[in-house]
Amino acid sequence: MFIGKLKLKSSVFLAPMSGVSDYPYREIVKKFKPGLVFSEMIASRALIEKNRKTLKMIKKDSNDLYAIQIAGCDPKVMGEAAKMCENFGADIIDINMGCPVKKVVNGYAGSALMKDELLALSIIESVVNAVDIPVTLKMRKGWDEKNLNAPKLAKMAERAGIKLITIHGRTRCQMFKGKSDWEFIKKVKKAVKIPVIVNGDITSISELKTAQSLSCADGVMIGRGSYGRPWIFKEMSENFTKNKNFKILSSFKKDIILEHFSNSLNHYGEEIGIKSFRKHLGWYSKSLENSNEFRCRINNSIDRSQIKSLIKDFF
Ligand SMILES: Cc1cc2nc3c(=O)[nH]c(=O)nc-3n(C[C@H](O)[C@H](O)[C@H](O)COP(=O)(O)O)c2cc1C
Repeated sequence: MFIGKLKLKSSVFLAPMSGVSDYPYREIVKKFKPGLVFSEMIASRALIEKNRKTLKMIKKDSNDLYAIQIAGCDPKVMGEAAKMCENFGADIIDINMGCPVKKVVNGYAGSALMKDELLALSIIESVVNAVDIPVTLKMRKGWDEKNLNAPKLAKMAERAGIKLITIHGRTRCQMFKGKSDWEFIKKVKKAVKIPVIVNGDITSISELKTAQSLSCADGVMIGRGSYGRPWIFKEMSENFTKNKNFKILSSFKKDIILEHFSNSLNHYGEEIGIKSFRKHLGWYSKSLENSNEFRCRINNSIDRSQIKSLIKDFF
């Protein structure tokens, strides 16, 4: 698949996820060769005001392609933020028009933009004109069941220069309830010529195949399905494109978890690195024998060496 002139090696992508798809996690996921990884959503105003925490969030990944997702409701600020991301080394800018969170939509950003097509278009134009790299767009089906305007917005976006569109098959009002409507995404696919990515509730090879066949999408984006299993990207792309059966060895799994922990400590420092890694350890250990006891011990430790030994013993 191509995004503009950029050639991707796989059509399985890591979703942008605030609090999850940070630098330490992206570095781990990249070991399993996803087609593309997306940063967490970056608030455009905080970025142009050079907020220290926000600048840390856009740290350039070590290799391969890197997409930074920006959010906001002011076309000028969004354009400036996009330019900054390009200067920081992003290969692609993604515009967030899918975030359903109240704090974001109350500021008329995220999925609220789907209710104001003219403002949405003006943001797209400003970002596309500000940078020389490809710009992509992520949105939902629409605001609610009465306003399913993703196909219309996709067409407008393509005309304005957007190079790829991801659709999470829910409305904003659904938040995360119900099921992602993969079949609806076919309407978006029919409306445009640029690649369309299906997103929402894809956690296994069989779901990937069903989502792809119902949506006719060019690729898939995986978010929560990668919790505690960053190797899912290799499993999915090898099974899907090469009919191979990749299975991770448990000794390698342990090495990956330790490396992820070390990435987290290096990126955030000891205190925040340990705190932010606890949720990942919860996901890595989910449904394994004695995982409750393991999590309890991890959550009570603030010592990096002790946590390392606990990981080595448990996995
Ligand atoms: C913890 C969390 C954080 C998220 N943050 C973002 C974000 O920053 N930007 C965005 O476009 N979508 C965000 N999303 C939505 C995901 O990218 C994705 O569209 C959604 O989770 C559905 O895909 P999934 O079922 O594969 O998780 C987030 C989702 C979760 C669960």
